[in-house]
Amino acid sequence: MNILITGGTGFIGRHLTAALSKTYHTRCLVRKTSDISCLRDLSVDITIGDLLVKDSLLPALDKIDLVYHLAGEVYSRRKGDYYKGNILATHNLLETCKEKDVKRIIFLSSIGVYKPSTTKNLLTEESECEPITFYGRTKLDAEELIKKYNIPWVIVRAPVIYGPHQPPVLNRFFLNAFNKRKIYIIGKGDNLRSLCFIDNLVEGLILLANKEKNNGKTYILSDNTPYTFIEIIAAISSVIKHEIQIMNLPSILGGISWKIHNLISNLFDFYFVELYAIKTMELNLGCNITKAKNEIGYNPKVALETGIKNTISWIKNSCC
Ligand SMILES: NC(=O)c1ccc[n+]([C@@H]2O[C@H](COP(=O)([O-])OP(=O)(O)OC[C@H]3O[C@@H](n4cnc5c(N)ncnc54)[C@H](OP(=O)(O)O)[C@@H]3O)[C@@H](O)[C@H]2O)c1
Repeated sequence: MNILITGGTGFIGRHLTAALSKTYHTRCLVRKTSDISCLRDLSVDITIGDLLVKDSLLPALDKIDLVYHLAGEVYSRRKGDYYKGNILATHNLLETCKEKDVKRIIFLSSIGVYKPSTTKNLLTEESECEPITFYGRTKLDAEELIKKYNIPWVIVRAPVIYGPHQPPVLNRFFLNAFNKRKIYIIGKGDNLRSLCFIDNLVEGLILLANKEKNNGKTYILSDNTPYTFIEIIAAISSVIKHEIQIMNLPSILGGISWKIHNLISNLFDFYFVELYAIKTMELNLGCNITKAKNEIGYNPKVALETGIKNTISWIKNSCC
């Protein structure tokens, strides 16, 4: 089977490419500007193209059976970039897949398609989608777009992914814990959040590679259970072998930050993921992964403390 990965130079893509290329003939679509050093030692073909330039995609999709579509816009400050990176890019890819008769596409979406909740009820694939951010909106629109094409698809929704090579915004959270031994949270910290260690996600994505019977389905992939902030901080504390002081901030800060966010984003086309994080910090976004376990045999093996240990060891070696 010939596989194309988009976003192979990104945080998730580099791990998925390394794993898939051990078994399958794997090609990565990269931009002229991409830093491809993470792909150099792997047995992968590299093809240059830009998802925003439709005609540039034809060579990448030649004789491809399965596309893992990971490329997207996750961290931009500008709303317009989310439209381009998540919707326009997906549209161009789908048009080219149709032209090249690609047999299947697996799309990495996000639990940002759901609205964070005040209750602890766990989200399932059937929960109502109601994105509250521009990022979540464009991921949901991309999902809808994929369903309109006559190309067999699987959609995977993931929560925040952590692990080696994670983005700086997550590194800062861990660095604060072990440099300052303090973490600020809004609310009591007993609300539920799902996370997914990168190896768990990659395992689930690979399980889907040859499961055509799961076409037309959406799956949530996350760690085995959701965690409270208190549990996450306790696990970090146990890994760094130091107590971490939890600084509880009042809920009103979340509301204020969200109002500021909405004002700025409406006036200036700006988007601040940090303000969204503050607003939703005391809300629940916990997931139930029973469907993925039952239907694809997903079994996330890496537990929170081990995942955090690997992540912190990578941060120490690369960021400190
Ligand atoms: N990280 C998470 O916690 C998380 C959670 C849920 C879902 N997701 C989804 O998972 C996917 C990957 O996330 P990530 O964290 O790995 O993101 P990332 O590190 O920002 O990587 C983004 C990738 O997309 C590529 N890309 C962007 N625009 C492109 C274009 N026009 N043409 C070709 N390639 C393009 C980038 O290439 P360059 O190297 O050239 O920049 C890079 O390889 C995204 O779709 C995201 O929505 C992520």
